[in-house]
Amino acid sequence: ANSFEHALESLRAGEPILVHDAADREGETDLIYHADAVTPEAVARLRNDAGGLVCVALGHEVAAAFDLPFYSEAVDHPATADHELGYDDRSSFSLTVNHRDTYTGITDDDRSTTIRALGEAAAAPGNTAFADEFRVPGHVHLLKAAPDLLGQREGHTELGVALAEAADLTPAVVVCEMLDDETGDALSPADARAYADRYGFAYLEGRDVLERLG
Ligand code: 5RP
Ligand code: ZN
Ligand code: CA
Repeated sequence: ANSFEHALESLRAGEPILVHDAADREGETDLIYHADAVTPEAVARLRNDAGGLVCVALGHEVAAAFDLPFYSEAVDHPATADHELGYDDRSSFSLTVNHRDTYTGITDDDRSTTIRALGEAAAAPGNTAFADEFRVPGHVHLLKAAPDLLGQREGHTELGVALAEAADLTPAVVVCEMLDDETGDALSPADARAYADRYGFAYLEGRDVLERLG
């Protein structure tokens, strides 16, 4: 199978994929799983092998059904007035959450509980009383995709949600930036590809996703 089909199959099978956005955007490769598939071992891989911020990206309609705002619109503080991203018009950050069944929220067990519950909630937004199930603030960052997805924004938030939808899965994925342990910078695309090859994971360039789904 080509990388695109391999990526969709991997998401369905609960395996991670790697997606590099673009050299002229963040220039980052995120390790991505569908939310339903996240186990404590997957969280350990995200924090050990990726090392960035563990976030769950939700489709816009699901996020809207849960009344989840963009963080910058929800917080009335002068520092949110101009987000000044160097690589995009705006951030996709929403609130941070923990499932109410967690204790501290940060352990591998706790984060996987929160992430899998978000996946379940995304499957049936109408049947989810969000505030009964999750507390805010928490240790999992939520990201809210643009309403028109890749037509409006080309971030990992939209790339991940679009890939989940293309795989016939619910619009809920966990994403985490791959960082370089030597330099602390974003892992280079060549090193990210080598990591993918080592484990047999699919690696995609944002432009390849845009060509098929944009
Ligand atoms: C959150 C981020 C990541 O880059 C994540 O990929 C979401 O952002 P975007 O949609 O802008 O790529 O900064 O850790
Ligand atoms: Zn990103
Ligand atoms: Ca980032």
